[in-house]
Amino acid sequence: MSKKVLVTGGTGYIGSHTVVELQNEGFEVIIVDDLSNSNIEVLDAIEKISGQRPQFEKFNLAEREKTDAFFEKYNHMDAIIHFAAFKAVGESVEKPLEYYRNNLVSLMNLLENMKRHNVPSLVFSSSCTVYGQPDQLPVTESTPRKPAESPYGNTKAVSEDIMRDFSHAAEGLNCIALRYFNPIGAHPSALIGEFPVGVPNNLVPFITQTAAGLRDELKIFGEDYDTPDGTAIRDYINVVDLAKAHVVAINRLMEKKNKAAYEFFNVGTGNGYSVMQLVKTFMEVNGVEVKYQITDRRAGDIEKIWADTTLANEELGWKAEKTLEETLASAWAWEKNVRNIK
Ligand code: WQD
Repeated sequence: MSKKVLVTGGTGYIGSHTVVELQNEGFEVIIVDDLSNSNIEVLDAIEKISGQRPQFEKFNLAEREKTDAFFEKYNHMDAIIHFAAFKAVGESVEKPLEYYRNNLVSLMNLLENMKRHNVPSLVFSSSCTVYGQPDQLPVTESTPRKPAESPYGNTKAVSEDIMRDFSHAAEGLNCIALRYFNPIGAHPSALIGEFPVGVPNNLVPFITQTAAGLRDELKIFGEDYDTPDGTAIRDYINVVDLAKAHVVAINRLMEKKNKAAYEFFNVGTGNGYSVMQLVKTFMEVNGVEVKYQITDRRAGDIEKIWADTTLANEELGWKAEKTLEETLASAWAWEKNVRNIK
């Protein structure tokens, strides 16, 4: 009997890539997504890649009755991967209560049902945003968290605390939080990828849309940072590598290899690249022009961050494998596929 995994937010960017990797490893997947920031056609693309169509239920997990009814209906589940959340940093400043309600209530509804239906394992999407601008680089898991810069970031920190307290109190129910650095790129099939609604906030979708002619020029936010070329530095992780980290985390919990009821890991490459390096590498690898202009810093941005991945490498036995070049090539292949560019 194959193991059943509930993937919330499974039609989203990271969720859809994780569904494919789970299916490749023989898991049966049920997706719950309210489609507020993703598209139902993603199910067709997943099926094209893996040959399997995941089960799908459309609702928002912050709705208690619907969540309870879902767990009554499916009853037995082996594990949960919880991606479903609002994730726009700027919007969260405008609408804090929406962010707290959606992101925190959905997690609590899931944990309550884990307990009621005895689902032993949960893997959660956290973020390197919990570190703020760290005093020392690279950041390890023992680097202290800093107060969040945004309600969005705070929902990640509070969610981590909720899982820690819950798993310590609930015998046999264990959680792993994965602190993602900056996920980029797309599946090598170019059938799934990041599909932002409206003007992209994130760097790589803005680059690919500029290369595709949808945007006039990229604005590079600041060149007066204390970095070798003056532009900000991040740890960009390939989305398929990131998806695989979830499969490893799920297996760790299912095989009871975890060392504590609640664990958390950095999921990055361990390498920092500047915005300028990223833009130049994208142009070189893909042979396309991306017009750009240097502008002022973006409010709230940190200067530099990259991960120490020793714990994920040694404890999880997971390591990022893809190069920045192949990741940026996959991002462009996906954009071209979406826009019908030859
Ligand atoms: C990367 C770098 C920008 C756009 C955010 C959230 C984080 C997370 C991922 C979400 C920065 C620069 C960007 C542009 C630019 N979580 N940039 N021009 O800010 O590191 O992380 O998204 O779901 O929590 O904070 O990612 O891709 O927005 O920016 O120069 O048009 O690119 O200033 O240095 P960020 P990003």
